[in-house]
Amino acid sequence: MYEALLSAQKAINSKTSLSEILEQILNSIYEVFGLQQCAVLLLEGSKLRIAAARGYSSDVVSTWEGTPGKGITGTAALGQAVYVADIQNDPRYVRGVPGAVSELAVPIQFADEVLGVLDAESPRTFSDEERQWFALFAGQIAIALRNAFLLEKERNKARQLKALAAINARINKTGTQEQILETILETAADILHYDRSAILLYKYTYLEMLVCRGYKEGIGKGFRIPIGEGITGEAALRREGILVQDVRNDKRYIHASDTSLSEMAVPLFYKDELLGVLDADSSSRFFSDDDYFIFTAFTEQIASVLSMHELINEIEQKNAALKRQIDDIYRINKELTKTTEALEQANSELKKRIEELTTLYEVGKTITSSLNLEDTLNAILQMTGHILNVSSGATILLNDDASEMKVQASYTQDREPGLHLATENTVSVSSNENAEKIIDIPLQIGERLIGKFRLAQRSDSTFTETERTMLVTLASQAAIAIENARLYENTQKAYFETIKSLAQALEARDAYTRGHSERVTEYSLLLAQKVGVSRKYMDILQYAGLLHDIGKIGVADAILLKPDKLSDDDLVLIRDHTQLGDAILSPLRFLHDAQDIVRYHHERWDGTGYPEGLTGKKIPLLARIIAIADSYDAMTSDRPYRKAMPIEAALEEIRAGAGTQFDPELANLFIEVIKEKFAV
Ligand SMILES: [Fe+2]
Repeated sequence: MYEALLSAQKAINSKTSLSEILEQILNSIYEVFGLQQCAVLLLEGSKLRIAAARGYSSDVVSTWEGTPGKGITGTAALGQAVYVADIQNDPRYVRGVPGAVSELAVPIQFADEVLGVLDAESPRTFSDEERQWFALFAGQIAIALRNAFLLEKERNKARQLKALAAINARINKTGTQEQILETILETAADILHYDRSAILLYKYTYLEMLVCRGYKEGIGKGFRIPIGEGITGEAALRREGILVQDVRNDKRYIHASDTSLSEMAVPLFYKDELLGVLDADSSSRFFSDDDYFIFTAFTEQIASVLSMHELINEIEQKNAALKRQIDDIYRINKELTKTTEALEQANSELKKRIEELTTLYEVGKTITSSLNLEDTLNAILQMTGHILNVSSGATILLNDDASEMKVQASYTQDREPGLHLATENTVSVSSNENAEKIIDIPLQIGERLIGKFRLAQRSDSTFTETERTMLVTLASQAAIAIENARLYENTQKAYFETIKSLAQALEARDAYTRGHSERVTEYSLLLAQKVGVSRKYMDILQYAGLLHDIGKIGVADAILLKPDKLSDDDLVLIRDHTQLGDAILSPLRFLHDAQDIVRYHHERWDGTGYPEGLTGKKIPLLARIIAIADSYDAMTSDRPYRKAMPIEAALEEIRAGAGTQFDPELANLFIEVIKEKFAV
């Protein structure tokens, strides 16, 4: 027996794969012990399963499952050999072999580790010796099995690594998530030879198929399995992998195929979070623990692909949120810009309105403060031109009998309006030869057209409605101002003519004084010219000369025409004519500057004159000029009480009065002027 055992041991040790070893064990049991019904049961986790058997029905081999501590073999799995001589009366006996009488189960033990149970049934009983040899044999095969397990483990590891390498080689990095997952399923199928597989996503109350292969019609992407249902649903519920080697009698099995034999389902995790389940089933073979072990290796790959997708989703969501924020900012910016633009526009409108109102106010002020037509027109034109940014402008007025239009004031001096003037009472826009836009605004008093405002603008700019309204307003104000100024001028002229006539009439009554004022004016202008007085003051001097004695209107004829020497009282009355003259001229605005000359033409250089006794240059220049001309004409004219003095004598008197009565410089210049004029 011992030698038979040694030979059996040799035969077993010569085998390397687990299946060959198991086959050899069964052969050896028959050869050594003559037993035809025997089985090798191996512990797989907490279960005892039949790894190889002889003499049993295939049903029992594929479905039987034992638990350590229960039954005959379960008791042996705890490390204790069990012999039952009369199995028919043992409740623990599981019927396996017809006609069996006894059963012997011994642990296959390596050191303290029980690897499985060696079990045999016999139609006869076992002797004590047989039982001892059988236990020894079990000990011998333990070493071979242990080695085979280790080798198998290494082989599995190698297969797993090979599988992972295959996946890595096959996965196209640029593929979509589903393409990558399909590749993984395909690779796993090539290695594990299964028929159907699927990756299902965890959706809290159910699992939903994302990718799958090999299922019958009706099971595909989107197919749902409630959590807890079927092997797949249970794997999700328990959050642990399940291997069902034979699904045919498993109630949990959901029929994905009518021919399915075996199924395994493994949950997919990312950082302890359940992502889904990887599931596979086979119609051609039963999955082994090794298959399951390799199968689990794919879950990490799948989970990482899924989590990557989750991450990408998250990034995409964040990107979308960011984009929304950017859009919001962009929109807000746009609105702000709009608001700012609106504000700026409102501001500029307001500014313009203020300028317009200021213009109207200024124009109004000018109109009321000046009755001078030219000043008024220029003021209106300049302000209008400034506000409206016109390139040129003019006020054109109809003459009194409305026969022709004449430019009265021009905004730009070097430009003429240069257009035939329409006489309609309407605002019109046209263009001129300089490609400028011309706007004509009628100046009206009631229905009567008195002239036009003409403004020119570069053709690329436009007169707005507001500007037109403003121009029309200005035009109506201007028309009134023009009419007022005209009426005023007419009144002034009439008044002037009246007092001039009066002055002439006054002088004409007395033969001695006839023409006196004209001559004084003549001499004064000659002297003023010599001095270099400006054009404006020459005009003033002209009026002042003619009217210097106008105050004598108020002096009684009795005194004025008195042939005798004048008394002191007479002189007082006579002297009043300077102030009277000043008062008479005061209503004439345009003669305002002439008033002082009339008032002071009897002042003397040394301050002994009247009415105020001014001295030297405090006496207005024109008054000093008239004083000399006045005295000269008096001396060279006949008087009731004396004859006219010769020119030389009169000039001698002037020379004598220089520095006392007269401005010495002016006196000398006057002598020169008279000498030149009369060639003395
Ligand atoms: Fe006088």
